[in-house]
Amino acid sequence: MSRLKKCELLTIVCLVLGSLLIYLAFVGVIDERKITVENTLVAGYSHHNPSTAMDTPITLLLRMPGRLLDHRARYYCDLFRSTVLFWPPSYGKTVIVLDEESAPDHQFGEIVINHTRKHFPEYKLEVLYEALPKDKGVLEFPHSRQPPGYNRQLWSSFFLDLYTNDSIIAWMDSDAAFITPVTKSSIFNGTKLRVLGWGCTFHLAWVKQYAITTMRALGLPFVVDYMSYFPTYIYRDTFTHCREHITRHMNASDFEKAFKSFYPGGDLLSPVSVVLSYAWFFERDRYDWHMQICTNLTEYNKQFPVGADIRPQHLEDILSQPQTAFHVRYGEFLSANILISYCLSHEAAGNQLDVCLRHNFSLSNNFDLLHHDLQRLKTIRQNPCAGNNTDYCLQVLGDHYKEVGLEIKENGRKLDWRGVKTVEELAKEIGITCKPWLY
Ligand SMILES: *[C@@H]1O[C@H](CO)[C@@H](O)[C@H](O)[C@H]1NC(C)=O
Ligand SMILES: *[C@@H]1O[C@H](CO)[C@@H](O)[C@H](O)[C@H]1NC(C)=O
Ligand SMILES: *[C@@H]1O[C@H](CO)[C@@H](O)[C@H](O)[C@H]1NC(C)=O
Ligand SMILES: *[C@@H]1O[C@H](CO)[C@@H](O)[C@H](O)[C@H]1NC(C)=O
Ligand SMILES: *[C@@H]1O[C@H](CO)[C@@H](O)[C@H](O)[C@H]1NC(C)=O
Ligand SMILES: *[C@@H]1O[C@H](CO)[C@@H](O)[C@H](O)[C@H]1NC(C)=O
Ligand SMILES: *[C@@H]1O[C@H](CO)[C@@H](O)[C@H](O)[C@H]1NC(C)=O
Repeated sequence: MSRLKKCELLTIVCLVLGSLLIYLAFVGVIDERKITVENTLVAGYSHHNPSTAMDTPITLLLRMPGRLLDHRARYYCDLFRSTVLFWPPSYGKTVIVLDEESAPDHQFGEIVINHTRKHFPEYKLEVLYEALPKDKGVLEFPHSRQPPGYNRQLWSSFFLDLYTNDSIIAWMDSDAAFITPVTKSSIFNGTKLRVLGWGCTFHLAWVKQYAITTMRALGLPFVVDYMSYFPTYIYRDTFTHCREHITRHMNASDFEKAFKSFYPGGDLLSPVSVVLSYAWFFERDRYDWHMQICTNLTEYNKQFPVGADIRPQHLEDILSQPQTAFHVRYGEFLSANILISYCLSHEAAGNQLDVCLRHNFSLSNNFDLLHHDLQRLKTIRQNPCAGNNTDYCLQVLGDHYKEVGLEIKENGRKLDWRGVKTVEELAKEIGITCKPWLY
């Protein structure tokens, strides 16, 4: 107990120091920009149509290297296996983007298409291929901290708009798995896309680096860390606008040149944080912001240009919708929630399944899903539902499962564990063994 307290205290001290450093780094740069930024912000709002219906198709999009066995295993065991359970095919198609120049990628693409068409015909899948950038120097340069494959993943992240014509992209990683049924309420608030962000990690060296590269790319501060949750829902054209903005800001003739200047060797980059920081400054009204920061808001806001400050209504200590996916390698223990969520869903639909009766789960077994940052759950603190928060958490989870249960009852959603078994067998066919989820 006292050890925990000590850790928390240390974290807080670091947070304060960390944010102060970041803050100091920004102050000088921002002041003289205030006027220009404001003008751009106003202009930014005018080039899109803000209304989006909740039945707009959403592309579940994944960029991965298909030649690496490790990534193939993640795709089958994490993403594919959980998609067929928790992501309704009626939401839209899945698009996997692989490496154009790699023969094993084409072979993998064919395998996945064959498996999906044969066993999950209701899931529309497209496999597309991305060519290497024209300039090889974009991915391979002296002093790069990362191998070219890693740099390529970062590079590609800025081009996700090229792989679908749907106006909304649900961005996933191959090693992210769904953890509870995805609902429209977890994607939308009215016509806005929900965004989660976590501003409590500035003590981490790599987050400080993300902040610096974001500032360099956008000419505007990193708002918070948007890398802590999945899927990330982003309008397709936000990617387009963001690339245009960066290219213009870097005075570059194309994005390749811009990328080389804001991501020189030795730095770290979080593309999702760049794109969503861009959205915060230029398309704020299209998104519904749910952020948590761990320092004084007035102080935190001093880094932002006038009119771009974070307001109390953008902050949320406990999520108002559960997280629907997690990054498996950062918290494998969270996999237990997959069966819990499955059982709570069927219970809400009035279905009594033997496996669920054996476990007798309750909503409180799902409390971890209300944490902002599932990646650092182990190191930061326990779930946020202790003490006075318990009732609120139970209400949020209760509403979530009521929505899911109703859809199951009305045949709007299947939640069938046989799909999980099928994917495990398909994985075996290509030499991959998935760790079972069901104990
Ligand atoms: C995919 O299916 C087609 C048609 O059934 C078959 O010709 C092809 O060999 C399969 N590809 C792979 C990689 O299994
Ligand atoms: C988007 O639509 C255009 C025009 O119909 C088409 O040429 C293009 O291939 C489509 N792109 C994708 C990724 O489907
Ligand atoms: C949806 O947005 C409105 C206004 O922007 C806000 O008051 C409300 O709390 C949001 N609802 C949820 C569930 O996040
Ligand atoms: C782009 O050019 C303008 C005008 O020449 C200059 O003020 C600005 O610093 C340049 N931006 C970058 C990122 O180099
Ligand atoms: C936050 O900082 C401001 C000064 O920037 C101060 O006036 C305010 O009291 C602080 N709030 C808290 C809760 O400490
Ligand atoms: C399930 O657990 C609840 C309390 O957590 C208990 O009241 C109930 O009797 C249990 N049901 C079964 C079937 O074990
Ligand atoms: C919980 O709520 C009670 C009554 O409103 C209050 O006295 C108490 O301080 C709260 N506890 C915490 C930990 O916030």
